[in-house]
Amino acid sequence: MPSMLSGGARPFTRKPTGTGCGPTKPGFPRMKQWPMLAYRHAFHAGNHADVLKHLVLVQLLQHLNQKDKGYRVIDTHAGAGAYRVGGAQQQQEWVDGIGRLWGRSDLPPGVQAYVDLVKAVNGDGKLKVLPGSPLIAQHLMRAQDELHACELHPTDLRQLEKLLADIRHIHIHLGDGYQKLGPLLPPPTRRGLILIDPPYELKTDYARVLAAVREALQKFPDAVIAVWIPQLQRLEAQQLPQRLKNAFKGVVKKGWIDAQLSVVSPQGGGFGLLGSHMVVANPPHTLGPMLAQELPWLAEVLGQYPGAKGSLSAGT
Ligand SMILES: C[S@@+](CC[C@H](N)C(=O)[O-])C[C@H]1O[C@@H](n2cnc3c(N)ncnc32)[C@H](O)[C@@H]1O
Repeated sequence: MPSMLSGGARPFTRKPTGTGCGPTKPGFPRMKQWPMLAYRHAFHAGNHADVLKHLVLVQLLQHLNQKDKGYRVIDTHAGAGAYRVGGAQQQQEWVDGIGRLWGRSDLPPGVQAYVDLVKAVNGDGKLKVLPGSPLIAQHLMRAQDELHACELHPTDLRQLEKLLADIRHIHIHLGDGYQKLGPLLPPPTRRGLILIDPPYELKTDYARVLAAVREALQKFPDAVIAVWIPQLQRLEAQQLPQRLKNAFKGVVKKGWIDAQLSVVSPQGGGFGLLGSHMVVANPPHTLGPMLAQELPWLAEVLGQYPGAKGSLSAGT
């Protein structure tokens, strides 16, 4: 599997590197209108933010699987699909994420379901591969379900294609996930899950997430929409959860939840990822109560300072 797996890095604190450069390898069109992307998810794969995001994703997919009718998953920012532990540019963030859960025998049920899935991906008991969101979806989807995975970075796109392209019902899109989303809605079966997980490398990501959620709900008010948001000492990041909740008001049919996991001390000079939110529109009714119980446990286990906190809020 190594050749399919991604390496590469970019911390949250670095500024975007500029605009205008398209990919250079043959087979990919130049994309002059798109910004040059420095973010590589391999740097962060398996960290506390991935744990929260993927734990929620597993719950959402397992809930969708309770009915026979097929569904469509749209992953607007898919990444490479899988990341090798100890890969050339892997930065070991997984050690304080999935690494702290891997050997434990006291996992609460939702966390257990997520760790079980990572174990199923790895097979032989050793943590060698960190699954990304498209691979998690592929593992849980059934023959009647379909995945649309969008990725803008040509290197990650190529790795994602190597991993998943030949699988039926999986559609991999090179391009801007925000733009790809609208035309895919509503799904023919009227059952769908949208994961919006941008790098927030560009300031415009915050406004684009909000616009994409508004558009998606207008076209498909029943959509289950899961948005990952970083906890940063940056105003746009702090405002986005509330902006999303305002957008949900009077539109979503089954309310929303906001799961927060804060694990790193904000005293470190204002930089870096402190934790994250998963905001979910139209969540299954069981998800909020489960997360409300399990988030404090996760904060205790993944916390990197005494003030670490996991909490849930919900509304309609
Ligand atoms: C946080 S990573 C995704 C991780 C993945 N969802 C997972 O959980 O494994 C964000 C990805 O979005 C890609 N990206 C950035 N801007 C994009 C855009 N406008 N459309 C699609 N992909 C984009 C980046 O190249 C990066 O691979």
